[in-house]
Amino acid sequence: MSVIRVNLPGREYDIISEAGVLDRAGTLLRPVLKGKLAVIVTDSNVEPLYASRLARSLHQGGFTAAILEVPAGETSKCPEVLAELWEQLLDLGLTRSDAVIALGGGVVGDLSGFAAATVLRGVRFVQIPTTLLAQVDSSVGGKVAIDLQAGKNLAGAFYQPKLVLMDPDCLRTLPDREFRGGMAEVIKYGCIWDRELFDELSRLGSRKAAMEHVGEIALRCCDIKRQVVEQDELDTGLRMLLNFGHTLGHVYEAAYHYETYTHGEAVAAGMVAAARIGTLLGVTPAETEGRITELLEKFGLPTSIPAKKADYEATLSKDKKSDGGSISFIALREIGRAEAVKLPTEALLSRIQEAGLCK
Ligand code: NAD
Ligand code: GLY
Repeated sequence: MSVIRVNLPGREYDIISEAGVLDRAGTLLRPVLKGKLAVIVTDSNVEPLYASRLARSLHQGGFTAAILEVPAGETSKCPEVLAELWEQLLDLGLTRSDAVIALGGGVVGDLSGFAAATVLRGVRFVQIPTTLLAQVDSSVGGKVAIDLQAGKNLAGAFYQPKLVLMDPDCLRTLPDREFRGGMAEVIKYGCIWDRELFDELSRLGSRKAAMEHVGEIALRCCDIKRQVVEQDELDTGLRMLLNFGHTLGHVYEAAYHYETYTHGEAVAAGMVAAARIGTLLGVTPAETEGRITELLEKFGLPTSIPAKKADYEATLSKDKKSDGGSISFIALREIGRAEAVKLPTEALLSRIQEAGLCK
């Protein structure tokens, strides 16, 4: 069993990684949760794979377990499904000492985390991430949210879990495309923080090889996120570095109405574009783009996605990291070291054109 402690004053929690940890969840949760009822929120793909195992383990730990299922997919991260969850939780007799347990990917984690943060003004929350993306990113750091008509993740909260339990074995059932999407975020950590991780991923070079070390790789990413979140929980400075590749990734996701490319695929192309722009800005060494491209290709990720100037304009004008017409663009000083470069949105748009990124 490997453990990482996230030290946020008054809201400390452990991230535990262990093969088969689902079957020990009841025992591990006993000291962390006070109440009797533990409600598992999961989705329609994950429920048949893992929910009954988790429920059994919770019973063994002395909990009354209930399972609530939402349809798989991003569309469940919406006000209607959230409201339904609130009602279902209260119908189960949830009290303020009870807990909500997210079992699934980032959709289930974000949605049920927001439900836990808001029902009865907040009940205990546990993350059991089952996608690579959720294990390396969304289950750690406390961002919970739903999507609105106006955009993704626009209603949410910072609400830290009481415990994160990661079972690397759960990733065996993950479809290839979802695994690749998670790898894009893993590669991002290598780019912004950990050159050794980047080099190790280059050596591994395939899902099969990476799966043999996936528990350690995920924990390494969690430890980077821990360091970032401990210094900047509320995303006002250092945490923005986690957005490397995301500024342009969001353009690509939106340009195709979130239908053609997954988030990870869009971020992959966004990282290559960010490296090229970083070089034009005089920040990123010229060979960086090629090195990132090579690694992404090994894991079957796209390295460019066509978009029009109008697509860039539409998304960049709404970017979360923009303020008063300028934007904090995350660029690499070198592989393993990132920094935020503040520049006018217009200047970024010019660099995008100069980089040949508009079709
Ligand atoms: P997801 O939750 O939709 O999961 C992807 C697919 O994999 C789904 O179809 C799901 O049913 C299936 N699945 C999950 N675990 C499985 C398993 N072990 N075996 C087989 N199938 C499995 O998507 P995701 O990529 O995990 O998360 C994306 C979401 O995360 C987005 O909504 C994004 O906004 C959010 N996110 C949040 C944060 C954060 O900090 N809170 C960070 C990054 C992303
Ligand atoms: N996924 C980016 C963050 O948690 O800040």
